[in-house]
Amino acid sequence: MINDINIFTDTDIDLSILKDKKIGIIGYGNQGRAQCLNLRDSNLNVKVGIRSNSNSIVLLNKDNIKYDTMENVVKWADIISILIPDKVAPDVYAQSIKSNLNEGQTLLFSHGFNVHYNHLILPNNINVIMVAPSGGGALVRKKYKEGSGVPALIAVYQDYTKVSLDLAKSYSKAIGSTKVGSFLSTFKEETETDLFGEQVLLTGGIPYIIDKSLKVLIEAGYSPIVAWFVCYYEIKTIIDLFHDKGLEYLYDAISDTAKYGGIKTGEYLIDNNMEDKIKTVLAKIQSGEFAKELQNTDISSINYKSEIKSEDKEKINKIFKSIFKK
Ligand SMILES: NC(=O)c1ccc[n+]([C@@H]2O[C@H](COP(=O)([O-])OP(=O)(O)OC[C@H]3O[C@@H](n4cnc5c(N)ncnc54)[C@H](OP(=O)(O)O)[C@@H]3O)[C@@H](O)[C@H]2O)c1
Repeated sequence: MINDINIFTDTDIDLSILKDKKIGIIGYGNQGRAQCLNLRDSNLNVKVGIRSNSNSIVLLNKDNIKYDTMENVVKWADIISILIPDKVAPDVYAQSIKSNLNEGQTLLFSHGFNVHYNHLILPNNINVIMVAPSGGGALVRKKYKEGSGVPALIAVYQDYTKVSLDLAKSYSKAIGSTKVGSFLSTFKEETETDLFGEQVLLTGGIPYIIDKSLKVLIEAGYSPIVAWFVCYYEIKTIIDLFHDKGLEYLYDAISDTAKYGGIKTGEYLIDNNMEDKIKTVLAKIQSGEFAKELQNTDISSINYKSEIKSEDKEKINKIFKSIFKK
């Protein structure tokens, strides 16, 4: 533990509690494959549960990982890691997992969504824990292979056997997270903040402010390519600048013009109106309204539409491809 703030690192945890445990991984996608390979390379006993005609069989054979039906893996395992898409998890849980659970087993999630919003009927006589890496599966695997890890939020929702926190800590160590740090949280906090971060910044705010800024510059007669450099390409430079050292460092490291313009315009754009909208987004997440809306929506019918005209988009794509050699 660091400074009594419930951050666990490698030295706080040993893996002995997992040594004789059988770990079943349901799903072999983004997180499933990464976590499974990291657990295997931490010398733990893993088996993957897949649906019939799974697309993942070729990869499982290539990786030399044991697999079976989801039902058999649930019966076999002591810890069952549910690593399938959140949207399908409630149906898969109801059909293939719930009736095969036994007293004292542990269900593990990498996102609290379905547990927090009560989309699963959980028996009282099992543990329910979370180990949620703060990054995609490719990064979870890459960092592990480099001898590092992706930090994780860990939590206990239901503690039947009274060792749930130790299980979550050890699992997070086995996938590499405690090389950096595993942070004690709750299902509620992880779920609501994860959704908030996604919507307000990562996949809502940032991409949409990029697109809107590009549109305004192009419509004002500037070259789409120059607009792209300013509104897209340079974003990474700025993020790299503050990511490791903080926002205060950013304002010390840039020119006086950028500092003055940024602070004035930031205060103008990100005003109380915007704060009210951000609060509305949070309120919909907290009330469960967003989760209901999501469950009732056919996501394949929702597509991102750029506001940039297609002929300008083509020019931007050409320069994008030439720079990133895609
Ligand atoms: N992706 C991330 O960056 C990330 C980060 C942190 C936490 N998480 C969490 O990790 C969990 C897994 O997410 P993910 O992105 O790793 O999922 P994913 O890659 O989309 O999961 C794909 C796997 O799920 C299986 N699958 C899909 N639909 C299924 C169904 N109807 N029945 C049975 N299996 C099905 C697929 O089976 P086939 O092989 O048969 O196609 C495949 O093995 C989620 O709770 C997510 O919130 C994800």
